[in-house]
Amino acid sequence: MKYIEAGSYEELSRIAAGIIADQVKEKPDCVLGLATGSTPIGTYKELIKKYEAGELDFSKVKTVNLDEYIGLDGSSDQSYRYFMNHNLFDHVNIDKNNTNVPNGKAADPSKEGARYDELVASLGGTDIQLLGIGHDGHIGFNEPDEVFYAATHEVVLDDMTIDANARFFASRDEVPTKAITMGMWAIMQAKKIILVANGEGKKDIVDKFMHGPVTPKVPASILQCHRDVTVIYSKN
Ligand code: F6R
Repeated sequence: MKYIEAGSYEELSRIAAGIIADQVKEKPDCVLGLATGSTPIGTYKELIKKYEAGELDFSKVKTVNLDEYIGLDGSSDQSYRYFMNHNLFDHVNIDKNNTNVPNGKAADPSKEGARYDELVASLGGTDIQLLGIGHDGHIGFNEPDEVFYAATHEVVLDDMTIDANARFFASRDEVPTKAITMGMWAIMQAKKIILVANGEGKKDIVDKFMHGPVTPKVPASILQCHRDVTVIYSKN
C-alpha cells in the first residue's frame, strides 16, 4: 500500500482529486466508485473547481456509490443520493442517469444487493474506488464482524457508527439503524483504490488496518490484499 501523509485536509483533498482527475482525463468514460461522509467533501470541491476551470469533462463518466441508508431515498436530505447530488453531481456535467447509489427504499434489500453487484459487473468494475474509513475500521458500511461479506448486503449499523453519523441529523434517534452497502467483492475489484482519512482520531485505525492482521474485525484490513491502494492521511 502506498501511504501519503498530507500536511492539511486541503492538501489531502487536492491529492485525492488530482488522482481522480488524472483518471477522468485518461479515460473519459471511466467508472468511479464514490463515497459519502465528511472526508471526501473537500475532494469533491476540488473536482468541481477543476470542472469549472475547464479541465475536466464528466459527460461520459459513470459512478457507483458505496452505500445508502435503508428507508431513505433521494428526496430525503439525509440520504446519500442527496449528498452526492448536493456535493458533486449538481455542479458538474455528469449525466445523472450514469450515477448509481443503492436504493434504500428497495422492498427487498437482498435483491437490491444482487442487482447492484450485477450493475457493477456490467460496468466492468470501477476504475477507481474512493473510500473513507470509520473509527471502527469500516469501509462502506462493512462493520467489524466475524466474516467478510462479499456481496452488496443489508447491515445493522454499529452504535459507534450511529454516534458518528448523528452529527448529520437533528437528533441521534433520527439516524437510520440499517443500511445497504457494497460488500468486499465490489470494493476489491476496483483497479485502483484511494482511501482518505482525516484527523488525529483516525490515526490509530489507519495504522491498524495498514499494518495489523487482515481480519473482518478490522474490515479495511482486507485492502492489504489489493495491489493498488493509496492511503492519504492528514492529521488536521
Ligand atoms: C460513506 C462510507 C463510510 C465513511 C466513513 C467515514 O459512504 O462509506 O464508510 O467513509 O464512515 O466517514 P467520515 O468521512 O465522515 O469520517
